Amino acid sequence: MNPTTDDSAFFPAPAPKEPAPLKVAVIVGSNREGRFGPVVADWLLGRFRGRDDLDVEVVDTADAGLPTALSYSPSPEVAAELAKVTPKLAAADAFVVLTPEYNHSFPASLKALIDWHFEEWRAKPVGFVSYGGVSGGLRAVEQLRQVFAELHAVTVRDTVSFHNAGAFFDDEGRHKDPAAPDAAAKVMLDQLVWWASALRAAKAVRPYGS
Ligand SMILES: Cc1cc2nc3c(=O)[nH]c(=O)nc-3n(C[C@H](O)[C@H](O)[C@H](O)COP(=O)(O)O)c2cc1C
Repeated sequence: MNPTTDDSAFFPAPAPKEPAPLKVAVIVGSNREGRFGPVVADWLLGRFRGRDDLDVEVVDTADAGLPTALSYSPSPEVAAELAKVTPKLAAADAFVVLTPEYNHSFPASLKALIDWHFEEWRAKPVGFVSYGGVSGGLRAVEQLRQVFAELHAVTVRDTVSFHNAGAFFDDEGRHKDPAAPDAAAKVMLDQLVWWASALRAAKAVRPYGS
């Protein structure tokens, strides 16, 4: 080492830059009149509070009236509906899908949102919060894992599930016994962050599918 050129004592290496927060789109899957989804969504959004590593954006299927008839040249009306959701999905590094169970599956509104998009899901992780009657939406989630695999998305293992969801929230929408679901949400979000960070770093080196 040449002491005359070693200036590291005076100019220490800069601290490593904090990575930008991951963008997480929370997708509200149900759109029916009188739906319970917003109560569960509010609870979930509370779990993001204080997490500096995550920026959350809500994509509500009730806000975008997407038809089930797909088209390569959507009408101006449909294009306007897509414009409400597509940029949010495209910008997201990760998704949390909030789904109820309808007849042992997930709602058509959620399937329409999924099917109207393709690139937006690719090489990104998906976590789930489900709710319903006795099953807590678990059957809907297992079906969604198959759907997202086809879209090159990665579903995270741990989920949050509310069976008989209505009975567990008070009139103000607060969970009556939040310790267990709060802990489950942390596990799911931590897994989502691991995958989203890993995939973001990998895609910066080599685009997916190249
Ligand atoms: C059409 C329909 C079908 C349903 N099927 C099931 C089911 O198969 N299993 C279940 O556990 N709950 C079922 N439920 C109960 C819903 O999961 C529960 O009402 C949930 O709150 C619906 O979500 P939403 O209120 O956000 O629409 C069904 C509800 C509806 C409206």
